[in-house]
Amino acid sequence: MSSPVLTGSGLERRFASGRGMLEVLTGADVEVQAGEIVAVVGPSGSGKSTLLHCLGGLDRPDAGTVRVEGDDVWQMSERDLARLRNRKIGFVYQFHHLLPDFTALENVLLPRLMSGESHEAAADAARRLLEWVGLGDRMTHSPGELSGGEQQRVAVARALVNQPSVVLADEPSGNLDLVSSRSLHELLHRMRDEQGATFLIATHDPGLAATADRVLRMEAGRLMEADRDDPKTWIPSVAVTP
Ligand SMILES: Nc1ncnc2c1ncn2[C@@H]1O[C@H](COP(=O)(O)OP(=O)(O)OP(=O)(O)O)[C@@H](O)[C@H]1O
Ligand SMILES: [Mg+2]
Repeated sequence: MSSPVLTGSGLERRFASGRGMLEVLTGADVEVQAGEIVAVVGPSGSGKSTLLHCLGGLDRPDAGTVRVEGDDVWQMSERDLARLRNRKIGFVYQFHHLLPDFTALENVLLPRLMSGESHEAAADAARRLLEWVGLGDRMTHSPGELSGGEQQRVAVARALVNQPSVVLADEPSGNLDLVSSRSLHELLHRMRDEQGATFLIATHDPGLAATADRVLRMEAGRLMEADRDDPKTWIPSVAVTP
């Protein structure tokens, strides 16, 4: 069996709130294999974004371990962590978070420049990816000159330009109309099928969850998964820590 690209085990995260501690993650386990599209669903406030931030090296969990290709994310130095976030993890957010004063091309090539590539090589890779997501004729547009769906496609291209081990997407189609959502979902599948990309996607969108290979549900701070033998039954998701 292949080893997972991303593992979160026993993740706990709590926040101080007015009336004491808010227990958001209470021992969440998740494992994502290379080439999978895994959806995380759950009501608003159940901790999906918190989980993605802990997995992506953006927010340190209070307990538990995160491994990306076997490396323990929260034991790394700040420098290695920054490198990991740049090279091995791609992020897509509900609102694109593109840099407004840069063109689509510049937004996509920046992560490659940051990883030390020459401008020319980075621009070549970014151009190819933008063509591939159907925005070959929008490269010099700034985000403000693109539609919401186009902005999200640029954000997906940016997330993938360094060929990360895994892309963490937080409500990627949350801000799009039905047609643009569908085309974004198709794009994610095409990226998996043709480029071998791996996705963990937090979503409220039943259409997106339905097309995922597996669906995990956040319940009281843990992740549950449909039983393979009896899909109507939800059982705790398990991560095998190497
Ligand atoms: N930095 C923080 N400080 C305090 N509380 C926080 C912080 N981040 C998140 N929370 C709380 O943790 C809970 C989970 O938030 P989170 O954003 O992970 O939920 P979610 O499942 O992503 O919700 P949604 O579907 O609305 O995006 C919420 O009650 C939120 O208020
Ligand atoms: Mg959220």
